[in-house]
Amino acid sequence: MAEHIKKMMTEEEVDQKIKELGVLISKDYEGKEVHLVCILKGASFFACELAKRISVPVTIDFMSVSSYGAGTESSGHVKIIKDLDEPLEGKNVIVVEDIVDSGRTLSHLMELLKSRNPESIALCALLDKPERRVVDVEVKYVGYQVPDMFIVGYGLDYDQKYRNLPYIGVVEFDEE
Ligand code: IMP
Ligand code: MG
Repeated sequence: MAEHIKKMMTEEEVDQKIKELGVLISKDYEGKEVHLVCILKGASFFACELAKRISVPVTIDFMSVSSYGAGTESSGHVKIIKDLDEPLEGKNVIVVEDIVDSGRTLSHLMELLKSRNPESIALCALLDKPERRVVDVEVKYVGYQVPDMFIVGYGLDYDQKYRNLPYIGVVEFDEE
């Protein structure tokens, strides 16, 4: 089925939103260092822009996980495809994610990362779909709350496509 993308937030709006998140985080972590944990691949575009907007010292590491289970719903059983390069011990960690949907993957991942003894750990997501939440996860920093629609752009994909769109859009399917 052919699809097209309807623009939801412009490039300028997203840039402004990330700037605001950066200011907020810089204020909250004043006098400290933050260690960003970027969840590949979706959060990579967001994490790089966010890092540039944080004024306290920043280090960054990357992790790739897959949430496997039956069908299209994520199960929350997280399989690590690529683990972090650095330990988290004593660090002020901010996990950076593209979107929180059911919350299954992240709640499992947060437990795993907490067991590595960071000084603190918080979650920052560009997008949040609260209507879809099945498992409770505390998302401290959120860019936008979005309705239950399939979102692409700014790192988010549909079938691995559209990650490179500089704006955020919704997938709409064309009538045959
Ligand atoms: P969950 O919160 O465990 O259900 O899964 C969240 C993951 O599902 C995100 O990190 C995305 O990779 C993917 N995802 C959920 N909703 C969307 C969407 O609207 N567009 C693109 N990917 C999505
Ligand atoms: Mg993801």
